Amino acid sequence: MRSASPTRPTCPLSTPLTSAKKDFTAAVSVTGLSLRVVADITKVDLEPYAYDVWHDRAVFHFLTSPSDRLAYVRQVTRAVKPRGNVIVSTFGPEGPTKCSGLEVVRYDAESLHQEFGVHFRLLDSCKEMHRTPFGTVQQFLYCLCRIE
Ligand SMILES: C[S@@+](CC[C@H](N)C(=O)[O-])C[C@H]1O[C@@H](n2cnc3c(N)ncnc32)[C@H](O)[C@@H]1O
Repeated sequence: MRSASPTRPTCPLSTPLTSAKKDFTAAVSVTGLSLRVVADITKVDLEPYAYDVWHDRAVFHFLTSPSDRLAYVRQVTRAVKPRGNVIVSTFGPEGPTKCSGLEVVRYDAESLHQEFGVHFRLLDSCKEMHRTPFGTVQQFLYCLCRIE
């Protein structure tokens, strides 16, 4: 296993990026074969072209400013290997407009793909009605892209 530094996490097999809005100090811990990083995804310094798969559930839709979304897409483009797979899920067009009291942006497959641009080939998408532990139902969109 390669060593990890708090400023530039390296990628053993997988790096769960545990997102925590309140504490963006990069925190790195290694458990088994995975490296856990807590950081602001728009700012963290990830190892370039190190990841085969990027999987985000319910983070991207919190990025309400165009500059944050641009920074996120730059992260993905830089961190994922060429021809790597990118799975992003957000609230769908009929999903909630807020989550945890915060505004979100809702997407359909086309509008989400537009955020990522032509270097991302949209391979598949689907919508899911997600039942929360509180018994409510939220529409989610899942998109699978490949970086070209
Ligand atoms: C609804 S939770 C989803 C958590 C997990 N991905 C899941 O599916 O259970 C949304 C997460 O987005 C995180 N988040 C929001 N903005 C972020 C940012 N700029 N960088 C990293 N994480 C962020 C929040 O801290 C929160 O943990």
